[in-house]
Amino acid sequence: MGNSSTNGVDGDGETNFGFRRVPREEHAGLVSGVFESVADRYDVMNDLMSGGLHRLWKQALIDWINPRAGLRLADIAGGTGDVSFRYLEQIENTPDSEDSASQVTICDPNTAMLEVARAKALDKGHIQGIEFVEAPAENLPLADRSADICTISFGLRNVTDREAGLSEMHRVLDYGGHFLCLEFSPSVAPILAPLYDTYSKNVLPWLGEHIAGDREAYEYLVESIRRFPAPDALTTEMQNAGFGNIQHRIMSGGIVAIHSGWRL
Ligand SMILES: C[S@@+](CC[C@H](N)C(=O)[O-])C[C@H]1O[C@@H](n2cnc3c(N)ncnc32)[C@H](O)[C@@H]1O
Repeated sequence: MGNSSTNGVDGDGETNFGFRRVPREEHAGLVSGVFESVADRYDVMNDLMSGGLHRLWKQALIDWINPRAGLRLADIAGGTGDVSFRYLEQIENTPDSEDSASQVTICDPNTAMLEVARAKALDKGHIQGIEFVEAPAENLPLADRSADICTISFGLRNVTDREAGLSEMHRVLDYGGHFLCLEFSPSVAPILAPLYDTYSKNVLPWLGEHIAGDREAYEYLVESIRRFPAPDALTTEMQNAGFGNIQHRIMSGGIVAIHSGWRL
């Protein structure tokens, strides 16, 4: 059941949370607990756990977007705003950035993660054109066709009802709007698999326990990656949600994938 469209939900109303089966209605609260507990150390843990690779993966996402001033970005599961701030910084380096204002919405259901994002926005001087919305992907309080670009980076794995989340992200995109999902993939190249397995099962939870102070949060991370759909299966889910012209790019030997689709 791991790769079903609703995040491994069985007929008995249970779903996977890390290595445990839990009632479906408890899943969002448990995921929330994970990010509540790591919010303060989230950015530093990303660097530590990925050896800085998450920066390259996010840059590849931004390059694929090809940011231009004046567009409306909805960054779903935006967390501490890492993707949004990279997007805005890229726009600041374009010649027309002075002429048209960009609008960025960082949307996340977790108060602690959004608080870190708000503090970072102030720190970086992003006061105007940035909005913070506390909501899950499955139920976005954003108007129909209110975004030109919709991103979800390392977020879709956490969404309890992926089908509803994808359909919501399709709904908020304008016609001709671009959807991009950056996520870990379970389809790691066989040559990397033994090393990656050892790293995931031993090193990551150890780092979680000793650096972030929460072993279970990082066991959840490993297990949620294992249960996430392989790239072709995610393409099918995106098609079912209405996206067209879907392409994906695999990076770092299949450790992560970027999916791109359009609202046509
Ligand atoms: C690994 S963080 C990714 C943050 C950011 N996008 C990044 O790439 O650094 C995952 C985020 O997903 C959020 N999340 C959890 N459940 C969610 C849901 N149902 N809908 C949207 N976001 C969710 C968490 O609160 C957390 O901030």
